[in-house]
Amino acid sequence: MASRTVPLVIAVDGPAASGKGTIAKALARHYDLPHMDTGLLYRAVALSLFRFGGDAASEFEALRAVDGLAQIDMGDEELRSEVVGSLASRISAYPAVRAALLQRQRQFAAQDGGAVLDGRDIGTVIAPNATAKLFVTASAEVRARRRLAELEGRGMPAHYDDVLLDIRARDARDAGRDSAPLVQADDADLLDTSELGVDAAIAAAIALVDARLAIA
Ligand code: DC
Repeated sequence: MASRTVPLVIAVDGPAASGKGTIAKALARHYDLPHMDTGLLYRAVALSLFRFGGDAASEFEALRAVDGLAQIDMGDEELRSEVVGSLASRISAYPAVRAALLQRQRQFAAQDGGAVLDGRDIGTVIAPNATAKLFVTASAEVRARRRLAELEGRGMPAHYDDVLLDIRARDARDAGRDSAPLVQADDADLLDTSELGVDAAIAAAIALVDARLAIA
């Protein structure tokens, strides 16, 4: 890849189980950039609240859980559980929690060599000037099937109907909140992965970023 004078920042947003994490990791590898999964930050706050006690219905207590972040092992398997994911979706609606996590995400995006970040508000709030923005989506049914396979793969069997309900509830919460809702940025490229396998989705993402680079 030719060296760039302007750092390459790639924002990858999308709903739960859309494939955005897999795509963001692949883009980071392809363009040799560091990657941040910002959903993991919200999940870590949720796990901190869950472990150290606190009421998710209280914005103040959710904010206090941000202080417990240092005690959470970011490789903890529990971070990937559905319970923690749902709790993360709830506490991420609080403006105080979002504000407390803003700086570290912006700093990561602003590092010298560039970066790839994935989440819900990267292209709209965290890195509005990103070089390339992808909004990765797929139908709720496809996402539920993928999430079910992922859960089964980790030895956490679940029922399709429950997973689909959870995905729909999460979509409604993430897109319906007032503070930094999940929304496609005006200048983001839409990538629907409903009909795509992993390799094809990654190839399509690289093609979209390359096209943005060609005009940047
Ligand atoms: O991407 P994920 O499923 O791991 O994210 C968990 C929750 O965190 C998601 O339901 C909403 C919240 N989140 C957010 O509000 N903003 C982000 N940039 C990333 C995640």
